[in-house]
Amino acid sequence: MNDNVDRIDDIVESIAPVLGMESIEKAAEPPEVQHPLVLEVKHVNGGYRTPGLIGRGKYHQVLFDVDFNIRHGEIMGLVGESGTGKSTLAKMILGMEKPEQGQIIHYTKRPQIIFQDPYSSLNPAYSVEWSLEEPLRVFGKYDEPERKRRVREMLARVELPEECLYAKPSELSGGQRQRVSIAAALIRRPRFIIADEPVSALDVTIQAQILQLLRDLREELDLSYLFISHDLNVVYQLCDRVLVMKKGRIVEQGTVDEVYDHPKEEYTKQLLAAAQ
Ligand SMILES: Nc1ncnc2c1ncn2[C@@H]1O[C@H](COP(=O)(O)OP(=O)(O)OP(=O)(O)O)[C@@H](O)[C@H]1O
Ligand SMILES: [Mg+2]
Repeated sequence: MNDNVDRIDDIVESIAPVLGMESIEKAAEPPEVQHPLVLEVKHVNGGYRTPGLIGRGKYHQVLFDVDFNIRHGEIMGLVGESGTGKSTLAKMILGMEKPEQGQIIHYTKRPQIIFQDPYSSLNPAYSVEWSLEEPLRVFGKYDEPERKRRVREMLARVELPEECLYAKPSELSGGQRQRVSIAAALIRRPRFIIADEPVSALDVTIQAQILQLLRDLREELDLSYLFISHDLNVVYQLCDRVLVMKKGRIVEQGTVDEVYDHPKEEYTKQLLAAAQ
């Protein structure tokens, strides 16, 4: 399913210039065929297997019967204490780890991820321009002027000046670096973004700016997000719905207002009390 959707997107994108189509999004995804969901996670169990000398090694289950969906255009929060399995779930959605049981169904192009540490998506040895251009080079569909045009367009979308293109990641501020890694995630025009603690390393003022940018990009590029955070206040500001995870299980989910105003689970109450 995922691969087919990706392939069709790629074909449409590659023929769009030939047909003189200005907007690839318009050509690829007319609104009337848009699926109401971007993602379904169905009863997923999964974890890690330590390599064994004999057989498949020891299995450590991290996720237990995880079941939820994300609707088109929505920002879904995922909260829970450290080590509970949030990043493991992100890796499964991205296809970097396989569930032992259950299903993960994508209704959009392959999602992209924004990490807490922008260096995870940027090569410290190269300029920002190089890092942003690289996925397009690997993709192999665009000539150099088109790649440069796309890189500049994306840089403008994340509201960075052109000088940033020529800097190495270490020469930028933390907030600028995170804007670049958002641009890197968006350069292949995904429709669904997983953000794993994207503002946790930033101070409060810069956090607010990046959250505003994520909101604006949702509108401009018609994105949906899974937004992972320890910080319940940040999730309250940004998200439409929220999943509360405890020890690899979703113990509560609902709209942010429902869950924050009327938490059902003791664990959610504790998390909210700790965030006061
Ligand atoms: N590559 C791996 N191999 C084996 N075990 C792992 C691996 N990555 C994570 N784990 C284990 O899986 C469990 C969940 O980790 P995970 O990183 O998903 O938690 P998290 O909720 O993202 O935590 P944090 O909020 O600190 O980022 C932990 O017990 C962790 O030790
Ligand atoms: Mg994590």
